[in-house]
Amino acid sequence: MRLAGLDQGTTSTRILTLSPEGVPQVVHAVQHQQFYPHEGWVEHDPEELIANIRACIDAVGPIDAIGIDNQGESCLAWDVVTKEALTPVLVWQDNRTSGQIAALKADGHEAEVMARAKLPLDPYFSASKLGWIIRNSTPVQEARKRGTLRLGTTDAFFLDRLTGRFVTDVTTASRTSLMNLERLEWDETLCDLFGVPMECLPQIVPTTGDFGAIETAHGRVPVTASVVDQQAALYGFGCRKTGDAKITFGTGAFALMVTGAEIVNKPEMGLLPTVAWQLDGEKPVFALDGGVYTASAALNWAKSLGLFENFGQINDFVRPSALEKGLVFVPALAGLGCPHWNPDARGIWLGLSIDHGPAQMVQSILEGVALRASEVVNAMNTCIQISGALAIDGGMSQNQYFTQFLADVTEREIRPAEMPELTGLGTIGLTAVPMGIDLQPTSQFGSIQPEAGISLPVERFQRAVAASKNFVLT
Ligand code: G3P
Repeated sequence: MRLAGLDQGTTSTRILTLSPEGVPQVVHAVQHQQFYPHEGWVEHDPEELIANIRACIDAVGPIDAIGIDNQGESCLAWDVVTKEALTPVLVWQDNRTSGQIAALKADGHEAEVMARAKLPLDPYFSASKLGWIIRNSTPVQEARKRGTLRLGTTDAFFLDRLTGRFVTDVTTASRTSLMNLERLEWDETLCDLFGVPMECLPQIVPTTGDFGAIETAHGRVPVTASVVDQQAALYGFGCRKTGDAKITFGTGAFALMVTGAEIVNKPEMGLLPTVAWQLDGEKPVFALDGGVYTASAALNWAKSLGLFENFGQINDFVRPSALEKGLVFVPALAGLGCPHWNPDARGIWLGLSIDHGPAQMVQSILEGVALRASEVVNAMNTCIQISGALAIDGGMSQNQYFTQFLADVTEREIRPAEMPELTGLGTIGLTAVPMGIDLQPTSQFGSIQPEAGISLPVERFQRAVAASKNFVLT
């Protein structure tokens, strides 16, 4: 049986299948454009994403079933009759609603949102983005009057367009801030608060099951799984037990830890309870989530500024660290997520001196991402002990200096995945479940031990984080 995983992420769309040895392999990949029409706005073209999905499906050849993972909170509006998008995709990084979020906080609404969605008030989640669409888009308002408006995260748009099913899976719904996490249903109070008409939202369904079928050149292919990409990666890592955790260092760095049947709610730690997955006919498995919004995005930014030319150049920094020498970078280029939840924070370098050059600046960026990740790891570990070593993947997991610094700052063994495609592996693993196949992860991991006797001056980073929060845009 040939199964495929379609990974529709923030920067690209890829389709993967398994080799005979069970190793996921990318068959086709297409990048899409990022649009930044105003400061803090980030958009994708929904038609470009659909075309790229189609190109991936065309390229993969005959398959028996497919699963789709999505970029999480990114959302849009479309028309039920034409199935055409009425807005761009407002990407999870888009901060256009930060003013509205601040006003909701000032009016004392955060406790209610925390009680229902278990999420803080933040522009990251879909709720305020969908509310913005309703208030600001004339085509959306017209479609609403006609009764043909549909709203949702990208998964629901893709599925409606490709299979005719207007559904979203429960992991993606848990990222909207419109779902009641205890009841796993859209919450009327939250929909009212954000101004999102509940009747325009898709039906919430389990992560695996019958999502309809896609017409392809090789016949109709059933879609048997739909899931957020980070949750797919958690599954692909083989994390199943409470305490099993992973961090994916992609555009942002996303840590997830399995908490089992229990919703672990620790708002004071800044961690988010979320749905890890729900297999069809089974109870949901929950996770704790902690996001650092800018990880390799900070490196790409530094590269675009000319601070380095290729990623091979930034592997071999030597101790002492930039932090020890007094240079600190806070990668808050798109605000600060877990555990600070401050969308107005901005990136900051502290301690620059006349003898610092591009190399030290890049070294401090690598360290800044590791230090932010360690804040998340510490918060998680305080809630539930992380079991064993910390498994990581994503582009930065291949950087030797970064992984050693991460081991030193977290004081735990870091296990970088030797096979990079854990999101695809997880999506294929979930796709296999309704087909009656239990795919066990075959991934191999390296091992990086913390260096003995190192004591890093982490309080310098904490002071820089405080400064990045105080320098708010007014
Ligand atoms: O929360 C956003 C996250 O799911 C995006 O992941 O891999 O598409 O950058 P990625």
